[in-house]
Amino acid sequence: MYYLTTAIDYTNGSPHIGHAYEKILSDILVRYQKLKGTETFFLTGVDQHGQKVQQSAEKEGIHPATYASKNTKKFKKLWEQVGLDYDGWAETTDDKHKACVGKILTKLKEEGQLYKKSHQGFYSVRQEQFLTDRDRNEQGEFGAEWGEVVELSEENWYFKLSDHAQWLQGFLAKTPDCIYPSSRQQEVINSLEKMHETDLCISRPKERLFWGIELPFDAEYVTYVWFDALINYLSFAGYLAEPDSDLPDFNQVWERPVHVIGKDILVPAHAIYWMAMLHALGFEDEHMPQFVVHGFWNAKGEKMSKSIGNIIDPKELADTYGVDALRYYLARDIHTGKDSDFIPDRFVSIFQTELANDLGNLCNRTLNMTVRFCEDKTLNTPSDYTLVELDQQLQASLAKTKEEYIKYMDTYQVALALGAINKHVKLCNSYAEANQPWALAKDKANTPQLHNCLYHIIESLAHIALLLSPVLPEACAKILQQLGAAELAQTTLADINWGLIQQPHTVNKPKPIFPRIQLPENEDPA
Ligand code: ME8
Ligand code: MG
Repeated sequence: MYYLTTAIDYTNGSPHIGHAYEKILSDILVRYQKLKGTETFFLTGVDQHGQKVQQSAEKEGIHPATYASKNTKKFKKLWEQVGLDYDGWAETTDDKHKACVGKILTKLKEEGQLYKKSHQGFYSVRQEQFLTDRDRNEQGEFGAEWGEVVELSEENWYFKLSDHAQWLQGFLAKTPDCIYPSSRQQEVINSLEKMHETDLCISRPKERLFWGIELPFDAEYVTYVWFDALINYLSFAGYLAEPDSDLPDFNQVWERPVHVIGKDILVPAHAIYWMAMLHALGFEDEHMPQFVVHGFWNAKGEKMSKSIGNIIDPKELADTYGVDALRYYLARDIHTGKDSDFIPDRFVSIFQTELANDLGNLCNRTLNMTVRFCEDKTLNTPSDYTLVELDQQLQASLAKTKEEYIKYMDTYQVALALGAINKHVKLCNSYAEANQPWALAKDKANTPQLHNCLYHIIESLAHIALLLSPVLPEACAKILQQLGAAELAQTTLADINWGLIQQPHTVNKPKPIFPRIQLPENEDPA
């Protein structure tokens, strides 16, 4: 089964555009697999434990559980609004998750992978970790990125990370497709030397942090938030679950999962800690995950942050401009793996140009003409009609569009796949201009050419609606419905070939699917 997960979002705030991007990108990748006819399991959720949540709750004078659950609702509501079609929902305060974390800790301890020792050193409160000399900057200081740094002496539990360093090195060397984009794989390989030296501290004394999962063998401690959070990928897939639980069958779900994560949490959390944890649990190489590492959305070249006050709110965008505009922009205006700037003018102009003008108009005017010019709204090109070069060009372009779409979607390059689709939409618009169906309709002698022209565009639109459906599921279902081809929604990718629509074919009356965003005239950039 194709098992895809997102990072679980911290509940110490509201969802921002970066969270929405990752979830929508993941939703698109899963829907694309479904289009191929693959069985899928899509997991997303929230990260509810840890120091940040405890501190934020303290500031508001409420219990961290209340605080986390209040923010969890915001995430869940937004994901529903933007149309995420997930199968599993991960919350780290869920008893089933806590039980799984406990079982894993017990197993690792029994196998000698955990030990207790005392450590004295500098601790970053913001990053919730002890620092080493490597973390000092050129001036020999701990930079501002670490926030408040305090000196601490503490006994804690450790995981033998270093035991797995050699295996990981060998594994990455022989598995070049472990991390996308591949430049990131090299970054991980370069970071491995640190791993030989240090083990991972996986506990926090309760007196310092009580908001976490208690260690099953030492009640004075809770589990380090990353060790807890990473396990969500296992626990909600049914790993070590009780037989009567409502979780999925782990062996069916877990073949080679795809973890979609942002670039800030690849090293060390996922590529090192998580890989070592799976290896320590006895996972074989062929069951190790793959990572799709995406870049960041910035605001006018700056990192988004609460203190600068430049956080972009996806809910506001969806409320104002609609879910299609939000999903399309986040898929279209960033290259997977790279950073991008969120530019409000581009957000509007991409919608106006590619959806309202190019695709929306094509759909609307072609259907309108079919309704007005064809008897009984029915296309019926004579079977012996001879195609001309323009028709052949359109058919060839459509076949090439699908090829490019597949190439790009298979390599996570959604923006380029959408570019390929838009190119064909534009070609259809020129095809209409060249054929002038509105002029053909004036003379009955041209009826075969009129039907052939409208048919070529309608057939194209059916293909486009299917290929675009992972990105804009609802809008594409509406397009198919208006084309009179709702039953095509079940078509799998391999079957999207010329001739989806069989003539005679009756269409429905159109209704604009992408109405232009109305802005005061001087503010409309399109
Ligand atoms: O890291 N642009 O949670 P988180 C794009 N709970 N993506 C962004 C982004 C931005 N500006 N800012 C953050 C955590 N992200 C942990 C994960 S997984 C077991 C635990 C991405 O809420 C970030 O890279 O800080 C991460 O993948 C996700 O949003 C959640 O970030
Ligand atoms: Mg983060």
